[in-house]
Amino acid sequence: MGAGPAGLLLGQLLHKEGVDTLILERRSAQYVAGRVRAGVLEPGTVGVLERAGVAGRLRAEGLTHDGVEIGFRGRRHRIALKALTGKSVTVYGQTEVTRDLMEARAAAGAPSFYEVEDVQLHEITGARPRVTYRHAGSTHEVDCDFIAGCDGFHGVSRRSIPAAALSICERVYPFGWLGVLADVPPPWEELIYANSERGFALASLRSPTRVRCYLQCSLEDRVEQWSDGQFWDEFRLRMGEEIGARVQTAPSLEKSFAPLRSFVAEPLRYGRLFLAGDAAHIVPPTGAKGLNLAVSDVHYLYEALCGFYGEASERSLAEYSDRALRRIWRAERFSWWMTRQLHRFPGDEFDARLQQTELEYLFESQTAQANLAENYVGLPL
Ligand code: FAD
Ligand code: DHB
Repeated sequence: MGAGPAGLLLGQLLHKEGVDTLILERRSAQYVAGRVRAGVLEPGTVGVLERAGVAGRLRAEGLTHDGVEIGFRGRRHRIALKALTGKSVTVYGQTEVTRDLMEARAAAGAPSFYEVEDVQLHEITGARPRVTYRHAGSTHEVDCDFIAGCDGFHGVSRRSIPAAALSICERVYPFGWLGVLADVPPPWEELIYANSERGFALASLRSPTRVRCYLQCSLEDRVEQWSDGQFWDEFRLRMGEEIGARVQTAPSLEKSFAPLRSFVAEPLRYGRLFLAGDAAHIVPPTGAKGLNLAVSDVHYLYEALCGFYGEASERSLAEYSDRALRRIWRAERFSWWMTRQLHRFPGDEFDARLQQTELEYLFESQTAQANLAENYVGLPL
């Protein structure tokens, strides 16, 4: 279920093992391919994409980053990812990952149906679950061994599990991110996560000629209320004088708003339905974990399914949820921590002083920096 990165990647990995898959997607292929989202890949994610045989363009065009910067009250401090962990991250947009996966699936001749409607899951706890859906005006039914619920936070898979069988943990933050994509050369070499008195800002990029920038904004803000000029003015102020003076502006190619949320539904299995990616969990984007976590879930689910088909054993399937959740909760912790330290929160002086103390400690302690770096490059799969 779902042709986001989780569904497409699982399909590709299973195709290489000779396991047939069918992908059902609610949106059009054009919409899925055009969606602008995450931009930073952990080395473990690159490894899984390589295993799936879709890392050719990523290797050629992805940008290797050996550090990230954290800004606080006009000062910037570099976290030396490579020096502290031996690992680097790769800047390569989710849009590109999706395109590579869609092309590989088309080349493999594996079936995907886009713009499907009224998707329903049946007999999930039996040995032969079924999915019904409408496509191009007619109703279809598929029977299968397993359903992989890779249909994102608003998908039908998680909602098909009885409420009593799921435990939900959630935190909603009192702000969102406004993101802009623009064709200007980035005047920063590495990503900058800036905690400014006016709120958080993130300077990111997609290529040597394209930037991706974000601003913390109010949940009441609407994209249409922010002109490009207002966005860049605010971005300059939050980035501080040195970067601010070097920022060139251009009309936005895309501008979107995302509320921030932490969410985990567990366990990840109900009968023959397995949840993976945003269908099971959401992290706030600070720390770039969302896409990477979808990929690590898929890696575990792929191994579980290989165990089932290879050894005719249910054991690997039974272990999937616990294996994936261990890593999910660590990424939840890190994303919550990054969000907590870098944004402006409503709160009292005590909260503000703790935030200041955390960041000053981070800037002074190699151990604290190594902790951030270890999590940013991604915990082992
Ligand atoms: P998705 O990418 O959501 O894919 C799920 C797919 O299922 C979608 O294509 C959807 O259309 C489809 N679907 C939904 N319902 C149905 C249905 N009933 N039937 C069939 N198909 C269905 N992460 C970061 O690290 N940095 C970011 O800046 C960032 N920005 C984001 C901005 C937004 C607006 C969102 C929503 C997410 C963002 N993320 C970001 C998170 C990251 O993009 C996700 O974690 C990642 O896309 C998860 O992949 P997925 O395949 O699990 O889910
Ligand atoms: C990007 C998004 C993130 O959430 C992040 O932490 C780093 C980079 C991006 O879109 O480039």
